[in-house]
Amino acid sequence: MQLRRLGQSDLWITPVAMGCWPIAGITSVDVTEAESLATLRAAFDAGINFFDTAYAYGFEGESERMIGRVLADQREDVIIASKCGIHWEQGKQVKDARPDTIRREFEESLRRLGTDYIDLYYLHAPDPQTPISDSAGALRELLEAGSVRAVGVSNFHQVEWMDEFQAVCPITASQPHYNILQRDIEADRLPWCRAHEVSVVVYWPLMKGFLAGKLPRNHQWDPKDGRQKYPVFQGEQWERTHDFLDRLKVLAAQVSCSVAQLVIAWTIRQPGITAALCGAKRPAQIQETAEAMHIVLDENVMQGIAEAIAARGEVDNRSAV
Ligand SMILES: NC(=O)c1ccc[n+]([C@@H]2O[C@H](COP(=O)([O-])OP(=O)(O)OC[C@H]3O[C@@H](n4cnc5c(N)ncnc54)[C@H](OP(=O)(O)O)[C@@H]3O)[C@@H](O)[C@H]2O)c1
Repeated sequence: MQLRRLGQSDLWITPVAMGCWPIAGITSVDVTEAESLATLRAAFDAGINFFDTAYAYGFEGESERMIGRVLADQREDVIIASKCGIHWEQGKQVKDARPDTIRREFEESLRRLGTDYIDLYYLHAPDPQTPISDSAGALRELLEAGSVRAVGVSNFHQVEWMDEFQAVCPITASQPHYNILQRDIEADRLPWCRAHEVSVVVYWPLMKGFLAGKLPRNHQWDPKDGRQKYPVFQGEQWERTHDFLDRLKVLAAQVSCSVAQLVIAWTIRQPGITAALCGAKRPAQIQETAEAMHIVLDENVMQGIAEAIAARGEVDNRSAV
């Protein structure tokens, strides 16, 4: 399996990355520390070298701390991405990307991760109260000091924001949400990134687990499971996506893989998509999605997937965020 270059940097990553939000246990149910640590270890053992976390993954930085504990001995062998500019206050996420805040969060993330540099450091989201150029300036300082090896942006919904940021600080990667049914970035942000040689590293490639194809039609939601509030997990949207997954099951059987693997293999094959951030909270989940790096989809299967997407129709992005 070939590593892929992140933007124009000297960082080389696996196209399947481990998304380290579920292990923070805020929206996922039944998360235990022992299983989370084992999941991180399983990701590394399965060949994944790219780990995605953030200052705000966990009310007290649990995700970064666990990465620090599990991967300390492999520090040179892994690419750690973290993010600044969002924190928690009384159970609510707050955007604050003022330069002083970024510098403080960065130092704290270093301590939690037990490292003295971060490979890829993102602005988690633009802060409406802070000019993008000010946030970019703080990240540029970290880059110039060698404290971070590359800078990224996340949740930049407009290309104008990318231009504004890039005018101050070079962008190596952009992190939008994207999956086989939610592809609006293909209209503008993806072409922008390709034109500027910026990597696109996508989140929610499994649509929060729906596209793993394991939630039954009559799934009974745990009251604490945060997903049920989204329209895509309800009513007609739920049924239509299940019809889509039924078609994918037939195609997956042809490739001798699972639906989750088919979906991730399709995602990392899309032009301009450098990596898919696959969230997991159990070792078996990341072991399964990691296998997608090795799956080759032939043109017949790609055609079958295209027909299944056309029959389903794209999902309105607003129904899943
Ligand atoms: N930049 C941002 O603002 C932003 C926002 C969101 C996420 N992210 C990043 O993107 C990553 C991915 O997002 P995500 O973790 O929310 O969602 P995701 O990758 O679309 O889905 C992950 C969930 O799918 C289920 N799953 C995963 N593998 C599975 C398998 N093999 N079989 C069955 N179920 C499986 C698990 O949930 P269950 O077991 O509970 O069903 C898991 O928690 C995050 O971890 C984070 O690193 C970034």
